[in-house]
Amino acid sequence: MEMPPAPLILEGIPMPALLIASDGRIATLNSAARASMGEDLLGRLYLMAFRQPAMADCIEAALRNNVAAVTRYIRQKGTGEQIFRVTVTPVPSGAMCAFEDISEQEQVGQLRRDFVANVSHELRTPLTALMGFIETLQGAARNDAAARDRFLAVMGREAGRMNRLVGDLLSLSRVEAQERVRPTQMINISQLLARVLCDLRPVQEAARVVVELTSEPDVMVRADTDQMAQVLTNLIENAVKYGGSDKLVRVVLHQIPRDQALRSPAVRIDVIDQGEGIDAVHLPRLTERFYRVDSHRSREKGGTGLGLAIVKHIINRHRGRLMIASEKGVGSTFSISLPMGEVTSA
Ligand SMILES: Nc1ncnc2c1ncn2[C@@H]1O[C@H](COP(=O)(O)OP(=O)(O)O)[C@@H](O)[C@H]1O
Ligand SMILES: [Mg+2]
Repeated sequence: MEMPPAPLILEGIPMPALLIASDGRIATLNSAARASMGEDLLGRLYLMAFRQPAMADCIEAALRNNVAAVTRYIRQKGTGEQIFRVTVTPVPSGAMCAFEDISEQEQVGQLRRDFVANVSHELRTPLTALMGFIETLQGAARNDAAARDRFLAVMGREAGRMNRLVGDLLSLSRVEAQERVRPTQMINISQLLARVLCDLRPVQEAARVVVELTSEPDVMVRADTDQMAQVLTNLIENAVKYGGSDKLVRVVLHQIPRDQALRSPAVRIDVIDQGEGIDAVHLPRLTERFYRVDSHRSREKGGTGLGLAIVKHIINRHRGRLMIASEKGVGSTFSISLPMGEVTSA
């Protein structure tokens, strides 16, 4: 039986693949390879085309010693990089390289490692403080009633911080697990908003912030009550915390006939503060876990850095969207839009 020519065989491989002839030149590329690495590779020497020692060593081993090998190859792509697992296999009169793009897997792994490192760090800080105070209370401050009261108050605060962090971590994992399950209840979001504001009154008073609510009555929307309460609490609490004392926070709830991005009627809630605003470089990253503009200030105010990450996941689950606009010196507006009725696909 006659074999089809090599270029045709390479076309059957669902990833970039190419053949290097025994003279070291790239003899054939499939269309996936042409698309991701450029047409101009054809005919070039592999040493010039892939200037990475591990890659060059593997190809040389295949060409000279008939040895197969797997290696990593990293390529600049735009501003980021693309990581491939490359399988180099000796074939008659050359070597075949198949490139499997593992950038996403590597990124997921990196995110998980960063997350674990962040959680450990965030828990260790209050834990270290607690252990220090316990030691002091067992030793030097044993019989000092005034010091004991003071230390116990600080210990209470640190324990509270750990408790909030664990609570937020649990909500985050719960929301993530449910992200693909749409809520089924219809809720009165106007009433919920009023209730959340009422519950936050002590926080407002402590920060000397006035919250002014403008709302349409009895707006109904498909949503999870507890999760929406969490979203509204988080956004209003942030506006109160970071909006500056003696300033005004405005909360506006209104229906819009059609949200362009959601392609449906929507209910929109804006939380507008008059704080110092957020520099534009931070805006795209605010919803990342543990991302804070000023971590010292956030910790001082009892923040965990997880609030907006939770908000984003909840809003995704509701097929809504979160918008953040901010101007330095003027203030920030955090808005959510939730679809009302069924989404039309047109
Ligand atoms: N209304 C706001 N004005 C200014 N900065 C804000 C506002 N809301 C959030 N931020 C910034 O975004 C960061 C992340 O918010 P969040 O996830 O709720 O965490 P935190 O627990 O710190 O409140 C905050 O640390 C703060 O730096
Ligand atoms: Mg917050």
